[in-house]
Amino acid sequence: MTYPRKHLLAIEGLEPPHIADLLDLAESYALLNRSGKTQRDLLKGRTLINLFFEDSTRTRTSFELAGKRLGADVINMSVSTSSVNKGETLLDTASTLNAMHCDLLVVRHGQSGAPSLLSQKVDAAVINAGDGTHEHPTQALLDALTIRRHKGRLEGLIVAICGDIAHSRVARSNMHLLTTMGSRVRVVGPPTLIPAEAARLGVEVFHDMKAGLAGADVVMMLRLQRERMSGGMVPSAREFFRFYGLDAEKLAFAKPDSIVMHPGPMNRGVEIESAIADHPTRSVIGEQVEMGVACRMAVLDVLSRQLPRNR
Ligand code: NCD
Repeated sequence: MTYPRKHLLAIEGLEPPHIADLLDLAESYALLNRSGKTQRDLLKGRTLINLFFEDSTRTRTSFELAGKRLGADVINMSVSTSSVNKGETLLDTASTLNAMHCDLLVVRHGQSGAPSLLSQKVDAAVINAGDGTHEHPTQALLDALTIRRHKGRLEGLIVAICGDIAHSRVARSNMHLLTTMGSRVRVVGPPTLIPAEAARLGVEVFHDMKAGLAGADVVMMLRLQRERMSGGMVPSAREFFRFYGLDAEKLAFAKPDSIVMHPGPMNRGVEIESAIADHPTRSVIGEQVEMGVACRMAVLDVLSRQLPRNR
């Protein structure tokens, strides 16, 4: 197993063997989970703290389950950012966590770079569970694992990531991971929602949804992240759906065996029609959630191997 770091802060900078090894390990955890077995001694005596400065349902529960399945003591801390100075809180929190001898720290924060800052102040291994518009590395891993299970590979696949790319840490982590693994990545959306850096990241940009979906193996839909938008970047939800919402008519441009993905939470009728989200053969949205637990188990496993034994 090759994993070069103490923390998992981003996909950017990881090389193909690091990613492939993490996915292989996650695949074995997916099989273990399906068999109903657990491995409760691997993280026995370890403390995992979920530190969430932003709302989350899937990601927090998924890390909690992953930690518990491996035998860790899991503590959930939800922190309100409303009335506190963020820099000060982060550093105060860091010393509290150190005093608690936390081994694994899972952090979600509204500011890009917050998990990285924390990683310099705590002894624990830090996992970024989404920071601002920067990265969400475990989401990209679970997406890649889901794709690999359906398509058998990542290399050479055409993956269309659609919607609000600019505000999406999911899109950014996926662009890094998929281009590193040799997929052909397209981003599809209105010019206001495509970041300027897209070209630098080696992805193709499309403003027309049907052209962007033509021949795609994977269609990944993203939520309009209105909470991160300053001003009106899209006319209205109805208008957005007409041009960029996934329905049967637009999906018909992708390959007939293409899969449909969404990291959640979904806005049905805005970026995706319900019938597509719930499609029995094309939608793999439920499987993404299942693979999330397996990928997080793999990440916790790998990072814990590098921790000192008795802290
Ligand atoms: C995403 C996130 O928080 O970045 N959700 C998730 O983790 N599954 C995407 C979103 O909020 O739209």
